[in-house]
Amino acid sequence: MHPSYTSFLCPHCRLPLSVELTFHRNVDWEAIPGSPGVWRYRSLIPVPDKAEIISLNEGGTPLIRSRKVGDDLGMKELLIKFEGLNPTGSFKDRGMTVGVTLARYLGFKGIMVASTGNTSASAAAYAARASMKCVVVLPKGKVARGKLSQAILHGAVIIEVEGSFDDALKAVINASLESRELYPLNSFNPWRLEGQKTIAYEIYDQLGRVPDAVVVPVGNAGNISAIWKGFKELKEGGVIDALPRMYGVQAEGAAPLAKAWSAGESTLTPVESPETIATAIRIGKPINWVKALKAVKESGGAIVAVSDNEILNAQSALARFEGLGVEPASAAPLAGLRELLKSREIDRDEVTVIIATGHALKDPETAASHESPIFSAKSPSEAVEIIRGLVS
Ligand code: F0G
Repeated sequence: MHPSYTSFLCPHCRLPLSVELTFHRNVDWEAIPGSPGVWRYRSLIPVPDKAEIISLNEGGTPLIRSRKVGDDLGMKELLIKFEGLNPTGSFKDRGMTVGVTLARYLGFKGIMVASTGNTSASAAAYAARASMKCVVVLPKGKVARGKLSQAILHGAVIIEVEGSFDDALKAVINASLESRELYPLNSFNPWRLEGQKTIAYEIYDQLGRVPDAVVVPVGNAGNISAIWKGFKELKEGGVIDALPRMYGVQAEGAAPLAKAWSAGESTLTPVESPETIATAIRIGKPINWVKALKAVKESGGAIVAVSDNEILNAQSALARFEGLGVEPASAAPLAGLRELLKSREIDRDEVTVIIATGHALKDPETAASHESPIFSAKSPSEAVEIIRGLVS
């Protein structure tokens, strides 16, 4: 087994390692074959040729032009990359297809992940597809019902730990140092991010250009780093000349990176008890914080924090003005965009993409907490009465 597939953290600083591609010549983008999806970019995803790909047709998600929200913000072009349309309902599937493919190729019996929910749902489905064992460690009582239901449905072994995601992640890191039976597939495993970087490739393919700004919700900070890596590879491979600015959005109650950014610090002060309605990004100690700060700095972007109220308003706007049902964490970029336009970080005439990372059904309780007129009718005729009242 090549040691690079099983070395995750730098032995000196304990921070996640990266996978680096070397481009000896320009990538012929026009010659990239196949239909939309993660594996269309196989030539840029460094898994061994002999590996059998474990796939559920992930990726190839739509890049949807805003019809109303962008106009209301006075924007020329706002686009929403709807990652909720992946097989298990979140962008995690892009990384999981690569991670599980590798785990199986390397001969592991199973995989393990800590999760705020989506990673566990995705891991459970892909492990099932590969006939592998799946162990998920979750912060007890803090995982949205849709996600937990998926992990149960796909037959994962679930360990609920008292504490936050950060405690769950500590357990997985420590267990991975002890045992070689289960391949850890959190984003400290840089191979998983090789799948997630395809978000950048797809945006370029779909838009036919590089956007000016990309706005991403940030939890453990793997995804923003992966998307930035994808764009940079397109540049290093001679496909594009310009790069977008990367903007991260955290929830106020779980915003260690936004705090470090606004204070101009290059150290991270973890949030001990993170809290937010956006449970997907309820993370106080993002393991990829160095990569994320680098992405934002190099690209000329920023990291901001938004309140739970702003997140809920953005969720409602996407649902009611665009028809897009996204989970709270995935609405955070729109909430952040409002701030970034106000502070003139992003200009109204700049082509901007927000990454809507997960589907609304992931968190049915929060979806149902929005107000809608609900009437009760004791009989069909009473229902007809109500309808009459509504249309008259
Ligand atoms: N959006 C959603 C819907 C997520 O589930 C996550 C992370 C993020 C954004 C943030 O991505 O961690 O790469 O910065 N969810 C992880 C999980 C932590 O366990 O499902 P990140």
